[in-house]
Amino acid sequence: MSTHPVSARLFTQAQQVTPGGVHSPVRAFGSVPGDPVFFASASGSQATDADGRTYVDLCMSWGPLILGHADPAVVRAVQEAAPKGLSYGACHAGEVALAELIVSAFPSFDQCRFVSSGTEAVMTALRLARGATGRSKVIKFEGGYHGHSDALLVKAGSGLITAADPDSEPSSAGVPAEVAATTLQVPFGDLDAVTRLFERVGHDIAAVILEPMPANNGLLVQTPGFLAGLRALTAEHGALLIFDEVISGFRTGWGGYSAGVTPDLVTLGKVIGGGMPVGAVVGPRATMEHLAPTGPVYQAGTLSGNPVSMAAGHATLSQLADGAVYARLEALGARLQARIEGGRTRSWPQVQRVGSIVWLYLDEGALPTRADTISQTHVTRFNHLHGQLLDAGFYVPPSAYEVLFLSAAHTDAEVDALADAVLSAVAGLD
Ligand SMILES: Cc1ncc(COP(=O)(O)O)c(C=O)c1O
Repeated sequence: MSTHPVSARLFTQAQQVTPGGVHSPVRAFGSVPGDPVFFASASGSQATDADGRTYVDLCMSWGPLILGHADPAVVRAVQEAAPKGLSYGACHAGEVALAELIVSAFPSFDQCRFVSSGTEAVMTALRLARGATGRSKVIKFEGGYHGHSDALLVKAGSGLITAADPDSEPSSAGVPAEVAATTLQVPFGDLDAVTRLFERVGHDIAAVILEPMPANNGLLVQTPGFLAGLRALTAEHGALLIFDEVISGFRTGWGGYSAGVTPDLVTLGKVIGGGMPVGAVVGPRATMEHLAPTGPVYQAGTLSGNPVSMAAGHATLSQLADGAVYARLEALGARLQARIEGGRTRSWPQVQRVGSIVWLYLDEGALPTRADTISQTHVTRFNHLHGQLLDAGFYVPPSAYEVLFLSAAHTDAEVDALADAVLSAVAGLD
């Protein structure tokens, strides 16, 4: 007898009408035991499933909900906006207000173009970089996820750096090899590899794109020297440096996580929509005005700048501007980390953390800074941990490679209970 009979029934129904029963593959419990939990409602730090079980949610919709679920001011803003029209497909004051707020957080930038997702924001930034430079190739880093557009679903062959033609093969069916070949991939932190690529094909590199704080393959914190090195190389070779801040933007502090380095463009999503679909590209006027209608780089969207999304985003960012939420999130994150590190009886679980972004690493040794050093032991242990945390009332993302997100709605008591649940779960693991 399932412990989640309603979720189980819904999942059976869903699989009939949807591939794998999910509308985004990472929601499937592909590597962890059990079937997906179907949520019925959520408020603050907690979500209740279709069977009436309530969890402390550490997934938080994969990052947007920095204030927690259904924050009262955000819900009020949505309720006030909706009756005035769900979509205009025309200009309105809400777009201007949110664009002004976002641009004000990036001192080097003047303009913002809204889209409806992070994927779209990155697609737009790369087309803009190609249009502005007249070049075709883009460098990304192994384990960096930048949405599901064709050219970014690529993994590199091992001969990337030394082969006559860098060998980039698609990591998804349906991506033409010709498209994949426009993306060159190197390991995180490997400035030498990037230098060699620029020496060989620098004349054709439009952009280097990375998350300045990579949070899609665990949390692979990079050194400021690496980011500064990329800044110098791209400037020297006339390529754009794009920081994909779909996760980190407005998450670790007001604006971007630049670590002292100023990129040429930033992509945003998640937090800037407060839970509604929004993405954005921000940059200096001279670059941004390559976009249509001022420039030749075409980009468009029926629902871009959607008035309800703009209202939710504005109500969210307005609560972040004074920095108090970030201070609270840092304190919560530090509390969780201290309780886990102070209570463990071995050298793991380790906590890799930047503010409210937390990655539990279930192995000993140095914390990974590149994708290929994440241990299989960690993955195996996490897959056991997941079910135990779910049973204990904590919903964490169903993947060893995903981070946890704290929100301003989480309490000290919840964070303590999570730490205790993690410690008690790992006590039984080899
Ligand atoms: C860094 C980064 N870029 C882009 C995306 C794509 O955003 P979306 O899922 O809104 O299309 C994601 C999604 O997780 C992301 O983490």
